[in-house]
Parts: sequence; C-alpha cells; structure tokens
Amino acid sequence: MDKIVALCKRRGFIYPGSEIYGGLTGTWDYGPLGTLLKKNIKDQWFRTNVQLRNDVVGVDAAIMMNPTVWEKSGHLEAFTDPLVECKTCHQRFRADKEEEIKAHEKTHQGKAGWTTPQKFNLLVKAFLGIIEGAQDEIFLRGEITQGAFVNFENIVSSTRVKIPFGIAQIGKAFRNEITPGNFTFRSREFEQMEIEYFIRPEEKEGNVWFEYWKNTRMEWYLSLGIKKENLRFRKHEDRERAHYARFAEDIEYKAPFGWAEFEGIHHRGDWDLSRHNLSYVGDDGKKFTPWVIETSGGVDRSLLFFLLDAYHEEGERTILKLNPKLAPYKVAVFPLLANKEKLVNLARGIYDDLKQQMMVAWDERGNIGKRYYAQDEAGTPYCVTVDFQSLEDKTVTVRDRDTAKQERIKITNLSEYFLSRLS
Ligand code: GAP
Repeated sequence: MDKIVALCKRRGFIYPGSEIYGGLTGTWDYGPLGTLLKKNIKDQWFRTNVQLRNDVVGVDAAIMMNPTVWEKSGHLEAFTDPLVECKTCHQRFRADKEEEIKAHEKTHQGKAGWTTPQKFNLLVKAFLGIIEGAQDEIFLRGEITQGAFVNFENIVSSTRVKIPFGIAQIGKAFRNEITPGNFTFRSREFEQMEIEYFIRPEEKEGNVWFEYWKNTRMEWYLSLGIKKENLRFRKHEDRERAHYARFAEDIEYKAPFGWAEFEGIHHRGDWDLSRHNLSYVGDDGKKFTPWVIETSGGVDRSLLFFLLDAYHEEGERTILKLNPKLAPYKVAVFPLLANKEKLVNLARGIYDDLKQQMMVAWDERGNIGKRYYAQDEAGTPYCVTVDFQSLEDKTVTVRDRDTAKQERIKITNLSEYFLSRLS
C-alpha cells in the first residue's frame, strides 16, 4: 500500500486534497494520470452498462437536492454509523470496525475505555441561498441513487423504457465518514457508479435479477483484468444491512489491509419508489410499484484496486500491468536522440497522428531504457521509438510493456496495430 501511495504521488495519479494548506481529511485530488485512469474506468463502465445494452439509460442528476428527498429516502433517520469515543484521547471511531478499535486499544496498552455507541448521521450539510440567516439547510447527496428515483417518472414518460429496465448514473457522493482512511478507500468525497434496475415486484424475479447483476458485475471486474483470486462475494449480515435493503451482497477485493468492499449489490425492493410515492403502469394497464436491484460501485475504490492489482516489480522495474483499455496513455512516442532534428520531426509526426485517436505520451529526455521504465510505471502498454532505420525504411520499434519484446512495424500500419490491440 505504501508503495502505491508513493507511486500515485510521484507519477501524478493521486495527491492529498488541498495539500498546500495542510490538506483536508478524507479528500483527494487526481493528477494528470489519475484523471485519465478515472475517466477510462467510467467510460468502460458506461460503455458496458449503457452503450452495449438495450435496457439501461443514463441520468446525471443534481448533487444538491430538495431536502425532502432525504427525509423520504430514510437517510435523515437511518443513514448512520455507530460512533464511539476513546475516553483516554477523545479520538472517535466506528464501533462496528472491530479491527480499528482493537488497533487503537493497543496504542493505549489495552487500557482505552469507550463511550457508549451513538448514532452518527453521515449526511453532509450545506447552506443554500443568498440571505444570511435565512438560508436553506440542504444535504450533499450521501448516495447518488436518489437522483435516479426522483427522475423515474420523467424517464418513463420521456423515453421508451419498459420494465425491466435500468437507470445508470456516475457522480459524486459525500459522507461525513467517522474514520476516513486506507488512502482513498474511505473518503468523505468520492464518486459512485450505479445502476438502479426496475423489475416486477415478484420474489422469483427479484432473486433472478439479483443473481444476474451480481455475476454481471463480477464479470466486469474480471474482464478488466482483476485477478480472480483477489475477488469474492460476501453476504451482508442482518445487522450491517442498509435501511433500504431487503438483502445485499458485496463484491470484495483482497486489499493489503484485508478483504474490502468494492461494490454493493442491493435488493432495495419497493423501499424507494413507495417512499417517494411513485409507481408504474404496465402494458396491461395495471399500476404497481416496481422493485429495484441496485449495483453500486465506487470509482475511487475501483481505481485504487485496479492499481493495486496491476502493480508488479520485476528487478529494478516497477510495472503497472493495467488493462490497455484503462491505461492512462495508450502509447508513448520517443525520438531515439533529442538532438537529431530528423528523428524528432518524424517522431512528432507520428505523435500528432496517433493523438487524433488515443492518448499518447511524448518523451525525449534521458536514455531509452529510462524512458521505458518511466512508461512501465505509468502503465503505458506500448512505446514507439523512432531511430535511424526509421528514416530509411519508415518502420519504428514497438515495445510491449508486459513482455518487453520489441518488433518493427511500418509507420503507416501503426494506428491499426494499436487500435486492434486496444479495443
Ligand atoms: N446506493 C447504495 C450505496 O451507496 P454503499 O454500499 O453505501 O451503497 C456503494 O456504497 C459503493 O460506494 C461502495 O461499494 C464503495 O465502492 C463506494 N463508497 C461508499 N462509501 C465510500 C467512501 N467513504 N469512500 C469511497 N468509496 C465509497
């Protein structure tokens, strides 16, 4: 984990939020490489779940919502974690995180006493309006989910969707987490990617779709290269289940700090639509309240787990073996020598050309070996080197990140060569 945190800072994946002013606990900023990786994760998610399907449409709802939403959704009352305070040093912890409690007790040689657990609401308050003292108290959304429900009628009436169908959304959520930590794993501001999938209110349908979405989401992580042995399902016990869920299972990742929640699959039943007083009229004219199966993943957690899973050390080399679809840069282009104008011009031409179709990095500093190592660490799947032979026969060396093998490819074939390997 320490190595990943250091790599993220060094290479520009992730920086602490507001760092020059001492930071802001639980917030993170994504640098140039992190921004690209995050965008690629979100693009892949949207492509799989909306573009390639006929039954899911997108929505992009406002972060600030009428506070009634949170009253109806049950979050004002039940979106809480149990908070305890150490009587010795007054640090606050989540009572249900036994390992964190035990670790803290060790720092006091096992003599820490605890206050009785209090319910602590995780919603973040904000104040909206222009008249001091008469502003509306609102809440930043604690889950992006409600944006799909409040638009349920709009989407049904403005599109051709018919049950079963889903509403997909990616966006920021905010939580007053009691103990943010493990790098970006538990943050106070983070991004979610969710599908709310509406089905007929029948037990069998519910079970079938729940299993379907569980397996479909697991397949997605596997298809993007997460190792099978690092993923598992875990059923929620009754005491940990969210107030809206009839039942729930997590997809977990084997992180350096233990098995950790990657994505939640929740059977929300009719909790949300009935609380918002919403219903659906079937083709037979009968009105009913659909049930909802939800898949709720974290963009930041995905990014962290994709990085952890891709991290390899081979001798002196650090390699991020990211799936090429996720890699921030797809190709890096180098002139063999920076002071040979003809090499630089030819390489620039290739760089400008490839840039029309994918993210391409440019590097002309230091020796070629160092440039390869730098790209390995950034996860760039291919490097193109323009050398003296290139001036003669219009071919270049293409070097593969994972095998370090090199082959000569015609410049005119480069774009096709990469596109066929990146799709
Ligand atoms: N709409 C359901 C929902 O929000 P959740 O299990 O509370 O369910 C879903 O959150 C996902 O959002 C988690 O699996 C995780 O990936 C991400 N997530 C939740 N809290 C987070 C936090 N504090 N920091 C980073 N990601 C978080």
